[in-house]
Amino acid sequence: MTRVAILISGGGSNMVRLVEAMAARRFATPVLVASNDPAAGGLAKARAMDVPVAAVDHRPFGRDRAGFEAAILRPILVAEPDILCLAGFMRVLTPDFVRRFEGRMLNIHPSLLPKYPGLHTHQRALDAGDTQAGCTVHEVTAELDAGPILGQAIVPVQPGDTAESLAARVLVEEHRLYPETLARFVAGQRAPLILGQGAPV
Ligand code: GRF
Repeated sequence: MTRVAILISGGGSNMVRLVEAMAARRFATPVLVASNDPAAGGLAKARAMDVPVAAVDHRPFGRDRAGFEAAILRPILVAEPDILCLAGFMRVLTPDFVRRFEGRMLNIHPSLLPKYPGLHTHQRALDAGDTQAGCTVHEVTAELDAGPILGQAIVPVQPGDTAESLAARVLVEEHRLYPETLARFVAGQRAPLILGQGAPV
């Protein structure tokens, strides 16, 4: 069975949907949830779902990214994942770390890449007057938010939307897109999955 490790930084809502989908559809098994924040709410959720957890606080490492990555790599390698899923993981990974998992590391980003890599994606879409927003699951490469696109969910911008209201609607679609895209990735499918608002999966 394909082994999946998931990296989180916060509440882990995407992680929860991935674990639930693996449990329900048995296309893979979650072997670790790891976080750069020992206080991340998602760690308790993972424990409650009987998924092994690990946490390495990135703050003591300061600017020593390689040092932090060497530390969080230890529990990841012990778990022996086939695939690494970044899910609300807010640390930028070094090319060395990415190379170790390239071709088997996924991330979900809250914009329709290649538009708006980086942060504050919803506000940037609103400021640009975009009529559509959404989220993207992509393979992680050394360039931030730039790897091959595996799936996208398109979310219409509504009049009066704020970054918060748009983020909330996009998050619902993230929770649909990521599990489906991971299942297809495990099955060896690479053609991008495109979900419209409410379209059947
Ligand atoms: C989500 O908007 C996701 O797109 C971004 O982090 C946010 C929180 O994710 N990467 P989660 O609830 O921790 O999964």
